[in-house]
Amino acid sequence: MKARASAHANIALVKYWGKRDRRLNIPAVGSISVTLKDLFTHTEVEFHSGLKADTLVLDHQPAAGEQLDRVSRFLDIFRKEAGIDTCARVKSENNFPTGAGLASSASAFAALALAADAALGLNYSPVQLSIVARRGSGSAARSIFSGFVEMKSGVRDDGSDAFALQLFPARHWPLEILVCITSEARKTTGSTRGMTLTAETSPYYGSWLDTQSQDLEALCRALEKKDFEALGETMERNCLKMHGLALSAEPGLLYWNPATLALIHRVRQLRRDGVPAYFTIDAGPQVKIFCPPGWTWRVENEIKDIPGVYRVMLTVVGGNVSKTAIQDS
Ligand code: DP6
Repeated sequence: MKARASAHANIALVKYWGKRDRRLNIPAVGSISVTLKDLFTHTEVEFHSGLKADTLVLDHQPAAGEQLDRVSRFLDIFRKEAGIDTCARVKSENNFPTGAGLASSASAFAALALAADAALGLNYSPVQLSIVARRGSGSAARSIFSGFVEMKSGVRDDGSDAFALQLFPARHWPLEILVCITSEARKTTGSTRGMTLTAETSPYYGSWLDTQSQDLEALCRALEKKDFEALGETMERNCLKMHGLALSAEPGLLYWNPATLALIHRVRQLRRDGVPAYFTIDAGPQVKIFCPPGWTWRVENEIKDIPGVYRVMLTVVGGNVSKTAIQDS
C-alpha cells in the first residue's frame, strides 16, 4: 500500500490548449513534447487505514485547499479501480519551481499515477498510465514517456484513445535546452482555468483548433528528418499562436514579463547572427531555448546577463520514469 515514483517535466513543442471534455480532461487538440532529463518530481504515496482524510506535503510544506482536493479527486480514480476507500498520505518534491509555467503538474500527476499504481499493485500498462495521468493534468499524459512524445486527442467520448506515446527515444536527437527562469512566483491564472476561459471567450479559438494538425504534421516531419530549422520555426509559430490566442481571451491572459520578451528578442537576434536557437514558452514567464548539440554555451553567455533572468538551467531530452513498491518491514 506504499510506493515511491518519479517522473520528469516536459515541454510542449506543439501545445495543448483547450479541452473537448472537462470532466474527463480530454484535450481538444493533439500535442508534441520533449521530456526533460534534469527536471523531475519524486512522489511517495501510502494508503493507510488509520487515516481519516488524504494529506499532501508538497516541497516540504503541508498543502490544503484546491491543491489537496485535486490530488484527492485523482486518487479517487485509483480507489475506485482497486475497490477501496482508504485515505492516503502523499509527499511530493520537485527539483524546480512549482506552478510557475515549468510543467510541474505534468511531472507531479505522472509521478502520482505511477506511485498510486505501484502502491495498489494495479500493474497498469504505460498507455493506461498515460490515460489516467491525463485525468490529473493533460500534459501529465506525456510525462509517462521519455524522449519525443505525442499526445493524441482521440475521438472517443470516454477518452480511451486520448493518450500519449513515444515518437522517438531521446538518443534520436540529443537536443539541448536552456530553461531560463524569470520568476519563481506562482502564475495567477493556471492552465486549466486559462484554457477554459480562452475556449469560452476568444474569437480565434476555432482557428486554433483548425490549424493545429498542420503544426503537428510539420513538427513530426522535422523530427523525422532532424531538420532543426523546421523544428524551430514550427515550435515558435505554435508557441506564439497559443500566446496570441490566450491574449485574445476576455480578460486577456498575459503570461509574460519584461524578461520573457527580452529573451524572445535576444534569441531572434542570435539567429540573425547565425546561432541556431529557437524559443518556446508555456503558460508562464519562463523561456525555454532549444539548440542543436554543442550550441548552448554560446547562447547561455548571451542571455545570462539580461535583467530579470536570474537562473538558467541546462538540460537535454531524456527522462525515464521509475516506480517502486515499498514493503512494510
Ligand atoms: C501551455 O496540462 O497544465 O503547458 O490539463 O488543465 O492540467 P490541465 O492543463 P496542463 O496544460 C498545459 C498547457 C501548456 C501546453 C502544453 O504543455 O501542452
